[in-house]
Amino acid sequence: MKLNDFKLEVYFGKYEFTAPYLLTQSDCEAMEVADLLKFEEGAEEKLLHSWLGYTEVVGSPELRSLVSGLYNNIKDDEIIMHTGAQEAIFTFMNVLLKKGDHVISMFPTYQSLYEVATSEGCEVSRWFLRNDNNSWCIDFQELEKLIKPNTKLIVVNTPNNPTGYTFKEDEIIKLCNIADKHGIYIFSDEVYRGLDLDGIKKPWICDIYDNAVSLGVMSKAYGLAGLRIGWVATRNKEILEKMTRFKHYLSICNSSTSEILSIIALKHSDSLLKRNINIIKGNLNIANRFFEKYDNVFQNNPPQCGPIAFHKMKLDKKIDIFCEELVNNAGVLLLPSSIYDYEGPYFRMGYGRKNFNKGLDVFEQYLIEQKIV
Ligand SMILES: Cc1ncc(COP(=O)(O)O)c(C=O)c1O
Repeated sequence: MKLNDFKLEVYFGKYEFTAPYLLTQSDCEAMEVADLLKFEEGAEEKLLHSWLGYTEVVGSPELRSLVSGLYNNIKDDEIIMHTGAQEAIFTFMNVLLKKGDHVISMFPTYQSLYEVATSEGCEVSRWFLRNDNNSWCIDFQELEKLIKPNTKLIVVNTPNNPTGYTFKEDEIIKLCNIADKHGIYIFSDEVYRGLDLDGIKKPWICDIYDNAVSLGVMSKAYGLAGLRIGWVATRNKEILEKMTRFKHYLSICNSSTSEILSIIALKHSDSLLKRNINIIKGNLNIANRFFEKYDNVFQNNPPQCGPIAFHKMKLDKKIDIFCEELVNNAGVLLLPSSIYDYEGPYFRMGYGRKNFNKGLDVFEQYLIEQKIV
């Protein structure tokens, strides 16, 4: 199997650990181990005396039980823990798909969600999000038109990376009804869940549809990407069994230390999410003022949920050239739409970090110096 370069990861590999102003990150502000341990009395002792042996392939029972508690209709044994979300995507696509299958993927989105299927010899059709009046939308009639007799899978990413577009409950039901009518599986990447800016909790897709797999992770809403803990949830027993067996060839099991730290984090899920929603809302207020001030150059497309948005910009050069010059000359990292194979002068901005304000100031200064604003 030959995989094409993962454009976003290649770009981050070049700049993420050298650029001083990260204005595009999709994970919320992380923390030190010591700060996480403070959330629970006795947690430090628990960690210090934890066993550094192999762990259960599907994840520790306590962790799976906390994760299943996030859902309405999912039992503990309908969860498999993985090393990050990425391992779960790779595993799922490998066990479900074979050469010649047709896959429909929401677009733009995180590359592995369609690239692994492409590498396996599947035909992938793109179900496009459209930018309409400062927000994103998607057309379900278009989805129906893309369905073929050999369509095996619909891949969605809600809240979406990079746009922040998020299905409302009636859209989730519409999607599940369409998939059910045609006997199609759904893979729903929901790694940005938990950061609902409107305060309305939407159902996970696997809570509604038996042949759906929902993907979750500690990296984004919880800001704990270094733990490398993700999971899938599904009521489909065959998929659970096949994914477990595939994992034997990848990480085998998760880091025991990361499992313990994830348990502590999930026991205090509400406090962690509240902290991160507050950071995002504060940064969005600052950004809204910036976009209002420069509305002749930018189109603000604020996110509905999660820490990222995909904004449009008026430019006399290509957006990828602008972003490379910006990071090389001013040290401000933004992700251009070319990374997502998406046409038009869009860039991704991230709102989950505490130093957003400083990065935006440097960005503004650069725009003034370059006479762009
Ligand atoms: C939509 C989406 N899915 C999956 C991942 C992978 O998550 P992780 O780094 O935790 O494996 C990312 C990371 O950016 C993402 O944006």
